[in-house]
Amino acid sequence: MENIPDTVLIVVDEAYYEYVAAPDYADSMTHFRSGRNILILRTFSKIYGLAGLRIGYGIAGKDILTDMNRLREPFNTNSVAQKAALAALRDKAHVTQSQKTNEEGKQYFYQQLKALGISCVPTQANFVYFPMDDSLALYNSLLKKGVIIRPMGPKAVRVTIGLPEENRRFIAALKEVISA
Ligand SMILES: Cc1ncc(COP(=O)(O)O)c(C=O)c1O
Repeated sequence: MENIPDTVLIVVDEAYYEYVAAPDYADSMTHFRSGRNILILRTFSKIYGLAGLRIGYGIAGKDILTDMNRLREPFNTNSVAQKAALAALRDKAHVTQSQKTNEEGKQYFYQQLKALGISCVPTQANFVYFPMDDSLALYNSLLKKGVIIRPMGPKAVRVTIGLPEENRRFIAALKEVISA
């Protein structure tokens, strides 16, 4: 941030912001408040669970927002999505519950993957990432068992942390695939 000149607009994608538990997470709002040339993007698709409504929000200075308002399409969100987004912002209990579910799922994944000898990259989001030889083969084997993960190139996978029963199902399927 110190090395970026003010002529450059800094865009920060904070799609997983609400999931972050690390106390040292970089606080983009401080930069916004100090007058930096910054646009912070947030979404209702992740912790709020409203991906199908296609709505999010941005935080930026008046000049940027005025320019964006000139360019944006007139009806780019719909009124139902806007109502739902406002209700979601008020629904603190949902966010707290989702954070708790995610944290518990994360610890479960860490522990289960470690027991299988797999070291996963520590996460601040609602998914884990770990190295896996032939990730495409794993993806296909799990797919046949009704479990969808995402291969990330040939040697790593990304797995979304779900509800406890979904997490257990993934681990059980993974164990079956590995032992086969
Ligand atoms: C890092 C990141 N940013 C942004 C998005 C976009 O979210 P949406 O377009 O649903 O608001 C996603 C969703 O997949 C994401 O993973």
